[in-house]
Amino acid sequence: MQFRTMTAQQQQERFEAIIEAEGKVEPKDWMPEAYRKTLIRQISQHAHSEVVGMLPEGRWITRAPSLRRKVALLAKIQDEGGHGLYLYSAAETLGVSREDMVSDLLTGKAKYSSIFNYPTITWADIGAVGWLVDGAAIVNQIMLQKASFGPYSRAMIRICKEESFHQRQGYEIILKLAQGTPEQKELAQDALNRWWWPSLMMFGPNDDASPNSAQSMAWKIKRISNDDLRQKFIDQTVPQANFLGLTIPDPDLKWNEERKAYDFGEIDWEEFFNVVKGNGPCNKERLRDRQEAHANGEWVREAASAYAAKKAERKEAA
Ligand code: 3HC
Repeated sequence: MQFRTMTAQQQQERFEAIIEAEGKVEPKDWMPEAYRKTLIRQISQHAHSEVVGMLPEGRWITRAPSLRRKVALLAKIQDEGGHGLYLYSAAETLGVSREDMVSDLLTGKAKYSSIFNYPTITWADIGAVGWLVDGAAIVNQIMLQKASFGPYSRAMIRICKEESFHQRQGYEIILKLAQGTPEQKELAQDALNRWWWPSLMMFGPNDDASPNSAQSMAWKIKRISNDDLRQKFIDQTVPQANFLGLTIPDPDLKWNEERKAYDFGEIDWEEFFNVVKGNGPCNKERLRDRQEAHANGEWVREAASAYAAKKAERKEAA
């Protein structure tokens, strides 16, 4: 039944029935305006995160310690760019334009994940980013594969297939260093010290401080809460750090036999909101680099649109 011929009541009921039945809402389906808006918000921020996330790793392509490491890092960064394109395309199906989303990022209006505002100081940071940042992203993105919006769920299924390589190559870098000379092991420990807490912040504020979670869970966009995903990440990562012989920088971290989970220390939410507000160590650098990359890519966009116009002209003339 075409939703245009339905009453508002019927449209709402049909939308709720799809959500209830674990179905997928597709772009052509009727959806509440608020559902559309929160999807545009989340998917565009997710896309921005993928694109900005290329910057901290990009700085190490020319300094990778071997050709093998360079090739793996290049492949990972190219994947992230592709993930950004899938997600911008998924957001566009909701009626927002690519230009508007990109302009929101370049003008500093749009959010992207706080994690990418931290510096990659040594090669070990590239390992920590793959191991911890992609590790945390995978925990979140596996959940998002079950999101109720079709294009987002399908983009996540595709992206998750590539993320596991990202996490594995990072973990292998850290493993090599942890099993190397004392200086190399120290590099790995220093990177863990600096990336552990910001990785926990990737999951967002505590559930009781999250303005979006309740509605997002009701619409089955978010399927598991911020705190539960964070706990899942901690419980799977601590044994990996133990195997590496590295120490998680949290004196309150302790296995809780009753909960069958790790108790952990208080996250510094002041730091989190400070970074989200734009006062992190690298926010300004990331924005400047992104603006520069966009400006340098102007000729590619011009050539692509000139080609498209020519093609349309020829089609018209045929
Ligand atoms: N960085 C920046 N902003 C954050 C944040 C973070 N780590 N965590 C939460 N926020 C923002 C939210 O966007 C929201 O602000 P807004 O209302 O202005 O958009 C506010 O803080 C409150 O947070 P909520 O928990 O209420 O918001 P959400 O329900 O949207 O949950 C989220 C936050 C869990 C990050 C959710 O948006 C989400 O799952 N997003 C998709 C996944 C994603 O973006 N991951 C980022 C990393 S992508 C990546 O790492 C790529 C990998 O290949 C390396």
